[in-house]
Amino acid sequence: MDKIQVNIKDVLQTVSKADIEALQGAARASLAKLTDGTGLGADFLGWVKLPTTTPDALLDDITATAASLRENCDVVVCIGIGGSYLGAKAVLEALGNAMGVANGPQILFAGQNIGEDYLFELQEYLRGKRFGIIVISKSGTTTEPAIAFRLLKAQLEEQAGREAAGKLIVAITDAKRGALRSLATTEGYKTYVIDDNVGGRFSVLSPVGLLPIAVGGYDIKALMAGARAMEEGTLTGADTSALLYAETRNALYRAGKKIEILVNYNPKLHYFGEWWKQLYGESEGKDHKGIFPAAVDNSTDLHSMGQWIQDGERTIFETVISVERQRHEVRIPTDAENLDGLNYLAGKRVDEVNKMAELGTRIAHVDGGVPNMQILLPALEEQYLGQLIYFFEAACGISGYILEVNPFNQPGVEDYKRNMFALLEKPGYEKETEAIKAKI
Ligand code: PA5
Repeated sequence: MDKIQVNIKDVLQTVSKADIEALQGAARASLAKLTDGTGLGADFLGWVKLPTTTPDALLDDITATAASLRENCDVVVCIGIGGSYLGAKAVLEALGNAMGVANGPQILFAGQNIGEDYLFELQEYLRGKRFGIIVISKSGTTTEPAIAFRLLKAQLEEQAGREAAGKLIVAITDAKRGALRSLATTEGYKTYVIDDNVGGRFSVLSPVGLLPIAVGGYDIKALMAGARAMEEGTLTGADTSALLYAETRNALYRAGKKIEILVNYNPKLHYFGEWWKQLYGESEGKDHKGIFPAAVDNSTDLHSMGQWIQDGERTIFETVISVERQRHEVRIPTDAENLDGLNYLAGKRVDEVNKMAELGTRIAHVDGGVPNMQILLPALEEQYLGQLIYFFEAACGISGYILEVNPFNQPGVEDYKRNMFALLEKPGYEKETEAIKAKI
């Protein structure tokens, strides 16, 4: 199996090899904490061995549930927010058809926002259609997915009847706690468990990500095989790519590069950038520290953010995901009149032009003072995406420990919830309601 690779050549104008190597000890100690559970947040390390410990029987069960949803639904709505949706969305987009042509039921998302128009239009769209629901919430109490589920559950029961609706709903939640668990038990839904020790943003390789990906018709065993290879390589020390990435980004951070931009040259990776932003933002942005994670889709964003990246404040570095092989081949045709002047490209593949845009941009950005790391991904296929997911998760844990934060909690996320509940006068929040009303 080909492997993803990390190339750090184009950061060496900003940090030296010695600067990066100086972090090797800390990175290796951080990796050891991930494997022996002696670091901060050690209760949330279930993801570390998920690829090698997930039984085939669970993958087969998920595949069978997915097959039933594929057979009985024209649309499957995945309800969840943050770590309960971004991983699945990222993989489905990376493997899917760019025009949204589905090989099976159409997969839509809900509960990742509180947009009233979004929900209205979704309900309108689902009217009269055969649809199913995968509702995902580890805590089972998150407001956004709970609202979406209440609406869509009622609609499905009205359209299909209560008994049939119960067979078209799958709940993925905590083993024992939370409102969703109680509801699923009462209604007899098919359920999958999110283990206590797997945090939301590290859960894509659990049923949270695997069921929606399987509903999309993709090979979750190949995805897990890729992740497993990366887990084994990383934990045995045979593959040092996650260590290298963590060391290099921390060396850049210490050299004043406070913002990391994840760059792709393939629109199918847009949501991979969204997943990565959540993984790193929610894991590292603590104690007034942390690299700010941003993402761009090139060449699209070269015509919007390109100016800033080339010429703005020099506090950024880029990590470019470079996809080696494309799935399809499109060649630029010859035109007898050549009014657009493009005949110099005739016969070339579109990807050749894209690769030159990528190389030209990298040289320009490095010349302009923007260090560049490159992650070479052989192709947008299940096994490589599995590798990439585990690579970024492992590097995130290592990097968070180098930064001396707890990468596995998210205390800052609670603040908006407390204020929102106070403003909505949720029972139990009376004191907070009084205090917040005095501020407005
Ligand atoms: O990474 C995380 O833990 C969060 O982003 C959660 O996934 C998100 O807040 C959703 O939580 P829940 O699955 O409990 O509804």
